[in-house]
Amino acid sequence: SPLRVCVCGGGNGAHMMAVLAASRPDTEVKVLTLFQDEAERWSKALEKGEMTIAYSKEDGKNQPDDHAKPAAVSKEASEVVPGSDIVLFIVPAFAHEEYLKAIAPYVNKKTVIVGLPGQPGFEFQCKNVNGQNMVEECTIMSFETLPWACRIKEFGQTVDCLGVKKYLAGSILHGKAVPRKPPLMSLQALLGPAPEIKQVKHFLEILLMSYSFVHPAILFGKWKDWDGKPVNSEPLFYQGIDEFTANLMTECSKEFLDVAHAIMAQRPNVDLNAVQDIYEWYLTYYKDDIEDPSSLLQAIRTNKSYKGLVHPMKKVKNKFEPIFQNRYLTEDIPMGLVVFKGVAQIVGHQTPNNDLLLEWGQKKIGKVYLVNGKLDGKDVAETRCPQRYGIETLDDLLNGKKMPPPI
Ligand code: NAI
Repeated sequence: SPLRVCVCGGGNGAHMMAVLAASRPDTEVKVLTLFQDEAERWSKALEKGEMTIAYSKEDGKNQPDDHAKPAAVSKEASEVVPGSDIVLFIVPAFAHEEYLKAIAPYVNKKTVIVGLPGQPGFEFQCKNVNGQNMVEECTIMSFETLPWACRIKEFGQTVDCLGVKKYLAGSILHGKAVPRKPPLMSLQALLGPAPEIKQVKHFLEILLMSYSFVHPAILFGKWKDWDGKPVNSEPLFYQGIDEFTANLMTECSKEFLDVAHAIMAQRPNVDLNAVQDIYEWYLTYYKDDIEDPSSLLQAIRTNKSYKGLVHPMKKVKNKFEPIFQNRYLTEDIPMGLVVFKGVAQIVGHQTPNNDLLLEWGQKKIGKVYLVNGKLDGKDVAETRCPQRYGIETLDDLLNGKKMPPPI
């Protein structure tokens, strides 16, 4: 019988995955999108015919476009989730909770739930979905990022694929039962030859390889001394970083690695060796895109896939102001740096550079997470740090057998 796939989401990545999966043989694809009238609009668009993935023809690549369509798109989990072998979450992390709650009644112990990407704290969140521990009940996979750079061109019809990653690291937490189809192989078959999935040993490796400090550090480096006056142009985001920002990233990356090493020192049976320094990570993952690999600064500044990307800005008369209420902070702090900080706090490791970004970033988005260097702020309950789910010890963090009380 076919591999039954449910794609959760209605954005760029969900479009890409829905077409890609539907184009594979022996695969049945359904889509769950809970947001506004997306399900209705997408269903209507499908009446026009198959969807298209248009691949970028830059760099002389000539990959033929894909054409296919999902069997159904719905806002009702009861219509598309039951019987799914794999449920793929392809939405920004703030939407994960809503989707987890929606699918929970319809999954079983053979279901594989995939965060694509999972983003830090995905597993902690899965441990308590309305009191249900999905980590024990299902198989949970988490990937470090989306496999592609992609943008919807026409909703429910065409998605532009701008780039495909070479590798994609993912973790797997095994549930009570063996899934009906082998999860890693199934997922690789859905993606095709690229990106090549690299399975890591521990889910914390994916959390620590999120490098959630990158976007906040770029914003901090650019705007920390800003006088509040509109500027003449939109500054380049990655290509515009300076030595200060690159050095700050290096220091933050050291703290991520130190936390991995501290965990391994306290629990020698835990292997987190896949966690790399940010510079090494760039050189591995963007090998073909980096023109000058001589330093982290140059590797970022000369990365072709970042060409032309600018800071999020709004126009004020004929000038520009930065927008801080943007996913670079609203997502990378509560679903990123705060989660890392929570892990560091459990391990008892100081992280002054990441704290600096957290302190600055939380002010910019009007939240309070960190108070006097501890996660005691009033908004911690909106984050995905382990403490929010009642995880306070290293043992709970690592295997999480304990069921936290519902909150
Ligand atoms: P997207 O920006 O296309 O997501 C928008 C979709 O999210 C909407 O269509 C809707 O389905 C859902 N959504 C938005 N607001 C919502 C709300 N208030 N409640 C419920 N659902 C809501 O996201 P995209 O581009 O598909 O990215 C998915 C994830 O992959 C994100 O975490 C993103 O950071 C990451 N990513 C995306 C890349 C890309 O090229 N698109 C590249 C690398 C990572």
